Amino acid sequence: MKTIKYIPFQHIHPPLKQRMIEEFRRFYDDQFYILGSGLKKFEEEYAEFNEVKHAIGIGNGYDALWIALKCLGIGKSDEVIVPAHTFIATALAVLNVGAKPVLGDVDENTFTLSPKTTEDLITEKTKAIIPVHLYGNVADMGPLMEIAQKNSLFLIEDNAQAQDARYQGKPTGSMGIMNATSFYPGKNIGAFGDGGMVTTNSDELAEKARMIRNYGKDETGIFAVPGINSRLDELQARLLSVKLPHLRRWNEERMEIAALYEKYLKNIDEIQLQATSENGTNVRHIFPVVTSRRDELKKWLQTHGIQTGIHYDTPIHLHPALSFLGHKKGQFPIAEKVCDQELSLPNFPGLTEEDIKYVCEKIEAFFAGN
Ligand SMILES: Cc1ncc(COP(=O)(O)O)c(C=O)c1O
Repeated sequence: MKTIKYIPFQHIHPPLKQRMIEEFRRFYDDQFYILGSGLKKFEEEYAEFNEVKHAIGIGNGYDALWIALKCLGIGKSDEVIVPAHTFIATALAVLNVGAKPVLGDVDENTFTLSPKTTEDLITEKTKAIIPVHLYGNVADMGPLMEIAQKNSLFLIEDNAQAQDARYQGKPTGSMGIMNATSFYPGKNIGAFGDGGMVTTNSDELAEKARMIRNYGKDETGIFAVPGINSRLDELQARLLSVKLPHLRRWNEERMEIAALYEKYLKNIDEIQLQATSENGTNVRHIFPVVTSRRDELKKWLQTHGIQTGIHYDTPIHLHPALSFLGHKKGQFPIAEKVCDQELSLPNFPGLTEEDIKYVCEKIEAFFAGN
């Protein structure tokens, strides 16, 4: 039986192995392991790639969100609007600066934060909106930026899942006042461990983020603000530098894979595919199919050697960690539906058309009752 694994870097790492080992040797010989030249170089490369003035390497994507919120002075008695369907980190970062995450349901077709819902949630306590470019799909940035501007709110992009997606030609992570991304291993560009980045065009906010990630230490060596320790690791930065020149090509490959899935699945009425946002691109971090028979389909594919994932099985308001917000089941119907019904198909650079066809044939057979 054919086996198709759900490991996004199984094909992209082997061709880079020698370059990675050389980079490790250099790192070993330099003997400069924290805030070294490799991190500085990667920050400059990433800023250029992301078309922003500053990129600040952070320990992980969650801390990048938390630091962005801190830099903007968001805290106690503030409210921040986040999608009800995202990875929990988006809401936890808000909570852990002392503010209240206010949940907005996602759009039924794009699965990203609905601008209409967002507008209805604004109160005098609202300070920011955090759209998430979920599964690689750009959020509806035009209307969201307009809402933020009209109401004097900060817009912070959670770009963990969509590095180099575009909205009207602008890259994700370059449109908000401060933005966060993650280099968790399975991301479109992932480290060999944890990693994250804050991006911004503001000199002042960049300086603040640099201080906060390093215990609050300023350029003169004084601990000017109460910071934390969350510096992107020197070795991870160096390895990410080896990967960055390939990211655009990998994303193109993900988009080609998605186009093939769309072609082979288009006649199956029982499944819904994610619609790409208007004026945006979708770099297909995840290829989701939504079906009321998700759990059965997952098992069926497993028996045919096909690994799949679920992103995510619980919407933000139903996690026990956030039950104190007082939300009830049924309050965010689209987020709940996607969590109950979403199945992530294998989707990563190196997956062949033959593999994609095999997956689609098995899905077709499942719905045909075989
Ligand atoms: C949407 C989203 N936000 C934030 C994060 C947090 O990133 P990290 O795992 O690097 O802390 C992730 C990924 O894990 C994510 O998918």
